[in-house]
Amino acid sequence: MIIVEVGSLNMDLVVQMPEIPKLGETLLGGVFKMIPGGKGANQAVSAARLGAKVFMIGCVGIDTFGEKLITGLSNEGIDISNVFFHAEESTGVALIQVDSQGQNTISVASGANLCLTSSDVEKALKSIGNFDALVMPLETPMETIWMATKIAFHKGAKVILNPAPAQTIDPALLSMIDFLVPNEHEIGLLNGSAQKSDPDMFQQAEILISHGLKHLIVTLGSQGSVYFDGMTKEGVIFPPYKVNTIDTTGAGDCFIGALAVGLCEGKTIASAAGFASAASAISVTRLGAQSSLPTRREVEEFMDKILLT
Ligand code: RIB
Repeated sequence: MIIVEVGSLNMDLVVQMPEIPKLGETLLGGVFKMIPGGKGANQAVSAARLGAKVFMIGCVGIDTFGEKLITGLSNEGIDISNVFFHAEESTGVALIQVDSQGQNTISVASGANLCLTSSDVEKALKSIGNFDALVMPLETPMETIWMATKIAFHKGAKVILNPAPAQTIDPALLSMIDFLVPNEHEIGLLNGSAQKSDPDMFQQAEILISHGLKHLIVTLGSQGSVYFDGMTKEGVIFPPYKVNTIDTTGAGDCFIGALAVGLCEGKTIASAAGFASAASAISVTRLGAQSSLPTRREVEEFMDKILLT
């Protein structure tokens, strides 16, 4: 099973705090960790740890963070020959604060991630050849998303788009996407309606599906996820696994990588979503993005244990 990831690589500078400071406030008592992240790289590592052969397409700066990030991916068995280096921009950095409930705020300086070009993507995909699925967040320029989607669509590979951070998605792009996987906050922004808080999920789903989207899965954090079928227009709720949350950073990325693996293995959508929920449930019990992503064995053991209880 071959998965191509087109996406971001960031070094996450994480401070764990009892609570996140308010605007203008300074709080002491944090614990600092530097952890590899970036939605694209997180999704790539998630899929690789669960058994996929993964090719990463992205861009870093010529600096220590970039070096550390690509070495980390390579140690996971991920092909990094299509991670480009930009001479003038720094590697992406994310400043993350995590509170005692596991909630976070994330500020990203995208740096070199925004220097990935559509011709880089075209060149990379030509060198990779055939693949089963293309997985992408929205932390690289929109032109790279278009290029990768068009190529994958014509090759007949599954296209899985995680529209994060959220922005309006062109209906023509939606029609080439097999699975769109936003979270409950992002879905309100995809149709350009700027319905940031409390969007009517069903109404938003209907609009997205009317543009030709085949499958929509909305992740709801500790509430599980909802699946909308583009053909039958029906919605199904997938329940969550209850765990003790330490840090939710990267849980969505973990879900996406695992979903891609499950779908490429031929699991049904319900079973792939269940597998992905189990993987992300494990990830929230640990600190950090890539540091929290589970292996195949961990996910299988977790699911077996749930079945027995
Ligand atoms: O989804 C979590 C990720 O978002 C972090 O690893 C951070 O780098 C940002 O890209």
